[in-house]
Amino acid sequence: MLRNARDQLLSVLLAFAMVLLTAATLAYIFERQIQPEAFGSIPGALWWAIVTLTTTGYGDEVPVTLPGRLLAGMVMISGIGVFGLWAGVLATAFAEEIRRREFLRTWDLVAEVPSFHDVGAATIADVTRLLGPREVSQGTVIMRRGQPGDCMYFIVEGEVEIQLQPENVRLSAGAFFGEMALLLGGPRTATVVATRSTTLLVLDVADFRELVARRPELGAAIKEEADRRSGEIRRLQ
Ligand code: CMP
Repeated sequence: MLRNARDQLLSVLLAFAMVLLTAATLAYIFERQIQPEAFGSIPGALWWAIVTLTTTGYGDEVPVTLPGRLLAGMVMISGIGVFGLWAGVLATAFAEEIRRREFLRTWDLVAEVPSFHDVGAATIADVTRLLGPREVSQGTVIMRRGQPGDCMYFIVEGEVEIQLQPENVRLSAGAFFGEMALLLGGPRTATVVATRSTTLLVLDVADFRELVARRPELGAAIKEEADRRSGEIRRLQ
């Protein structure tokens, strides 16, 4: 994680060192005649610069000239900036690492879904960006009949029950559901419940449209299955 942020952290350290050296040199120029014991040399003034830039402020060495005090104000403000920058770089690196791990986990899940078996790595990477994992426990109602639908699901592991009349249908790993509301624009045609602990991949409607536009053959396979299912529903009604 730190390897990725190394360049940024080094830049912040460099900025830190430059501000320190400049501040110590200027403090030496402004204060050396009035306070030779504290500011008589640049290394001596460096102690004051470190205490001020880190906003520690022991107060053991204090500039007394007007330019010296103005400089002290600027060094204090720069200190807040430099540490803010440092914290920002670390926080971004952490967030990036978490995102990368999540991406790899989703990648593994996507690769297990049969509809994605025959597509290349570039397409899996594309799809991985669009799909998000969701774990549901046994008995969870994933969708209810009649509700509007804004996403569809792929089953990675586990099983769901599509509650239909006269008899329920069970779908397991590799199957998808929730596509009909997206394709036909109507409400959910059935209630769907997890029959055991199940891992799903969720694709929301906007991403569904994007995926279908980018991978027409995948869109056609989903549409074909949706047509078959709506035919079956009509036949049973
Ligand atoms: P949707 O209507 O969005 O929400 C309920 C889902 O149940 C539906 O999409 C289909 O994915 C699924 N479904 C409906 N009928 C069947 C069926 N006969 N076989 C398998 N799945 C079905």
